[in-house]
Amino acid sequence: MADKDGNILAKDYGIGIAPPVHNFHVKGMNSAGWGMQSRLAKIFADDGHTIMLAFDHGYIMGSTAGLERLDLVIPPLMQYADCLMATRGALRTCIPSNHNKAIALRCTADGSVLKDDMSFGTAAVDIEDAIRMNASCMAVQCFVGADGELGSLDNLAYYVNAGEKYGIPVLGVVAVGKEMERTTRYFALATRLLAEQGAHIIKTYYCENFEQITAACPVPVVIAGGKKIPENEALAMAYRAVSEGAAGVDMGRNVLQAECPSAMLQAIRMVVHEGAKPEEAYRAYELLKKDVK
Ligand code: 5RP
Repeated sequence: MADKDGNILAKDYGIGIAPPVHNFHVKGMNSAGWGMQSRLAKIFADDGHTIMLAFDHGYIMGSTAGLERLDLVIPPLMQYADCLMATRGALRTCIPSNHNKAIALRCTADGSVLKDDMSFGTAAVDIEDAIRMNASCMAVQCFVGADGELGSLDNLAYYVNAGEKYGIPVLGVVAVGKEMERTTRYFALATRLLAEQGAHIIKTYYCENFEQITAACPVPVVIAGGKKIPENEALAMAYRAVSEGAAGVDMGRNVLQAECPSAMLQAIRMVVHEGAKPEEAYRAYELLKKDVK
């Protein structure tokens, strides 16, 4: 029963003290609603940066090196990531739910790598299921310039509209098909286009003059790792991307196919959150690798 009588009377009204002004730390999201900001704040640390660990490759590639057993590989790495990027199938079957990491839920189905043109994807996950999965953001593959461009922008529009309704941000993923350009001009066009269509975060590839892309994109940009390259080069790429305005990385194979994935993720963490130079992070990687062995 509510206590109607005998309560201590309210007295501290802070008369004359203006309410604190909060500047939201995620680029371009100052006027987003409270729920959306709360989800974004789970993805992006107070420094505005994030480390997303991508292990959604199976949605197009099937079983891939380093990702054969998600149930064994991912849980020990989760502590070093801010956000997990995965399909609902992988999350439900391989990832314990009692963690406090943000979730970038892969929401489109784009066919398999067996197809020459994967640009005709569908919006596979209903907004209700994204809510059930407690998604911090919904990842949508977009094929700018491909034959399926309009369909993929239609998928993006579905998630942006539903996301705005329920306060869930959208991660627009710039796809690069077999025949598609990988130039600064292309990435500048695609990142800006997705942001203008309402995506709240953009994932793209690192390229020359990257600072032009991040400057012209009104929302945070994170880079994909792409195919496996030597660990020191992947750290250098992450460093250059963040120095040139990226809000972080959304890396998969360059972590999961590294000689020591946990050491690699910790080294990436040093670059993204602590501003470590790539050489310093690589030295740390070598030392951490020995500890794990
Ligand atoms: C494709 C994707 C991925 O499936 C994945 O997240 C890529 O990660 P990486 O290239 O670092 O292995 O987003 O566009």
